[in-house]
Amino acid sequence: MHGMNVVDLSGTTADVVPAGATAETVTEVQHYTDDLFRFRMTRPASFRFRSGEFVMIGLMVGEKPIYRAYSIASPSWDEELEFFSIKVPNGPLTEHLARIKVGDKVLMKKKPTGTLVNDALIAGKRLYMFSTGTGFAPFASLIRDPETYDKFDEVIVTHSCRFKAELAYSIETVAAAKEDPLIGELASERLRLFTSTTREPSEHVGRITTLIESGELFEALGVPPLDPATDRGMICGSMAMLKDTKALLEARGLTEGANNRPAEFVIERAFVG
Ligand code: A2P
Repeated sequence: MHGMNVVDLSGTTADVVPAGATAETVTEVQHYTDDLFRFRMTRPASFRFRSGEFVMIGLMVGEKPIYRAYSIASPSWDEELEFFSIKVPNGPLTEHLARIKVGDKVLMKKKPTGTLVNDALIAGKRLYMFSTGTGFAPFASLIRDPETYDKFDEVIVTHSCRFKAELAYSIETVAAAKEDPLIGELASERLRLFTSTTREPSEHVGRITTLIESGELFEALGVPPLDPATDRGMICGSMAMLKDTKALLEARGLTEGANNRPAEFVIERAFVG
């Protein structure tokens, strides 16, 4: 017996859709680095979600479905669904997902959920979205939702990665948002992207936590330091990044909110990787 799993991407997966899931068709795949890619797929007509939420997506690996939580990177008004993924070495799902092609089927469970939603924050002047790595995904959704601009005058999304090549998706998505027929005008006037790298020189070098503490982030943006009276935050990254960024926001007087208890910031782990 070989240890190798065979992924059935032939289309026959549609015949064995597990209970509670639907099989969606991949419409676009784009690879940014050896480890990072984005893909788009069909959206079931009945599927509703709030921008910033996540859902379980998966593939049949052999005879078994394997699912992982993925933030939906497209906004709630989009007729398709977009996802941004890392390829984890030997990752039970991502090893296979990284090989999907247009026309392949991807499984999706029907119930979205999550805390990185506008409803979990009280309105404010400035919304910061702090992300590292694939933690940018939910913000790719929220920056394309008009509701975000209804609730906040200014939207600042930060994306920090080890290397410059890993910033391609956020740079491209923000640029495209500014050209979009629906939210282009809002995004052009009120959305800003701040990027930093930690293992390669670039315009801003260092972890987002370091750049908050040193004040470099606020200086670069020309905005005052964090203030609970005006500023709101959403954080998405690794467990360590969440913990450290959350501590900085709390030290500046912001309190953590939830769906049923809106407050000044919310956090969610970037699931895969
Ligand atoms: P660093 O290169 O200094 O580890 P990863 O790919 O490991 O999830 O890291 C993504 C980015 O998040 C990297 O730039 C990494 O910086 C940064 N990072 C890792 N841990 C933390 C943390 N505790 N707080 C803030 N940023 C972090």
